[in-house]
Amino acid sequence: MSRYEEIKAELQNNPKVWLVTGVAGFIGSNLLETLLKLDQKVIGLDNFATGHQYNLDEVQSLVSKEQWQRFSFIEGDIRDYEACKRAVSNVDYVLHQAALGSVPRSIADPITSNAANITGFLNILQAAKEAKVESFTYAASSSTYGDHPALPKVEENIGNPLSPYAVTKYVNELYAGVYAKTYGFKSIGLRYFNVFGKRQDPNGAYAAVIPKWTAAMIQGDDVYINGDGETSRDFCFIENTVQMNILAATAPDEAKDEVYNVAVGDRTTLNELYNAISFALGECATEVTKTPIYRSFRAGDVRHSQADISKGFDLLGYKPEYRILEGISKAMPWYKKFLG
Ligand SMILES: NC(=O)c1ccc[n+]([C@@H]2O[C@H](COP(=O)([O-])OP(=O)(O)OC[C@H]3O[C@@H](n4cnc5c(N)ncnc54)[C@H](O)[C@@H]3O)[C@@H](O)[C@H]2O)c1
Repeated sequence: MSRYEEIKAELQNNPKVWLVTGVAGFIGSNLLETLLKLDQKVIGLDNFATGHQYNLDEVQSLVSKEQWQRFSFIEGDIRDYEACKRAVSNVDYVLHQAALGSVPRSIADPITSNAANITGFLNILQAAKEAKVESFTYAASSSTYGDHPALPKVEENIGNPLSPYAVTKYVNELYAGVYAKTYGFKSIGLRYFNVFGKRQDPNGAYAAVIPKWTAAMIQGDDVYINGDGETSRDFCFIENTVQMNILAATAPDEAKDEVYNVAVGDRTTLNELYNAISFALGECATEVTKTPIYRSFRAGDVRHSQADISKGFDLLGYKPEYRILEGISKAMPWYKKFLG
């Protein structure tokens, strides 16, 4: 049995109280679904800045009535310390996901991203420390590697941030480290690498590449590739990310006060990604006839990204269960239904 299977069995026997911030968003709602299916008690906090009530409604439709009754929702803002204090009360494990994602959003409006991602982070960290929660896990980002050229990315070697968003996520790590040293409050930062899967928002100017292209292909719109298409990423299916959050929340003390890459260890170019999505959509009986349109590179983007995931494997027992093609073939039917 893997460590993940063991922990899930343990949690079912001995349920905990979890706080998931950003619960109405993509990653948060997937965490909620898994935790409720494991009979956990979950408190969710969200202000619907980018999350949606329909994500919560969908989770409700996928769990039993008893499981749904173990969920309580606080509509609130992490920029409000009182809301954070309320949310962490009597919680065992915090999974902090709430933030404003997207590099271009942060370039267009750095002040709002800073408020949610830095002030909001500090509020929830401080509230969690004061409430003496058992563990605190937060969404960090691969953007922290910035302009460091080495591949694969190893946690210790980071470069200079390339966007306001990357600065905010790096500041989270700095605060987390200082809280460990100053107050003995140890947390775990998860550097997500391009997570994808069901409920990732395909709409809006700041949609991530997989949902954006999928929506365009399904709806017969043009697909734009920024640059020559040889930009590469380590795309990580949501189930791997959920696994890592659960492993981190339940990690032993010696694995805390650390950051971990959350990825697969693969590298896929945008051209390969385009082919993979059109192939998977073809399997779902959609006709994809258009060719992509190439345009200039996007400001703030790193050229290549690929993770070394051995630290997560060694210290947390992380073993990604899905590679990109498996994840894409699982996600596409959801998009067909959602956008159909
Ligand atoms: N999706 C990825 O590939 C990826 C990669 C790296 C890091 N991350 C990080 O993972 C986390 C979750 O991202 P996601 O992809 O699920 O994005 P998302 O936009 O779907 O979810 C974020 C959620 O946080 C909520 N939120 C935002 N500001 C808030 C505030 N001030 N108060 C309360 N709630 C607020 C939003 O309403 C939304 O529901 C974020 O911290 C993001 O920076 C995501």
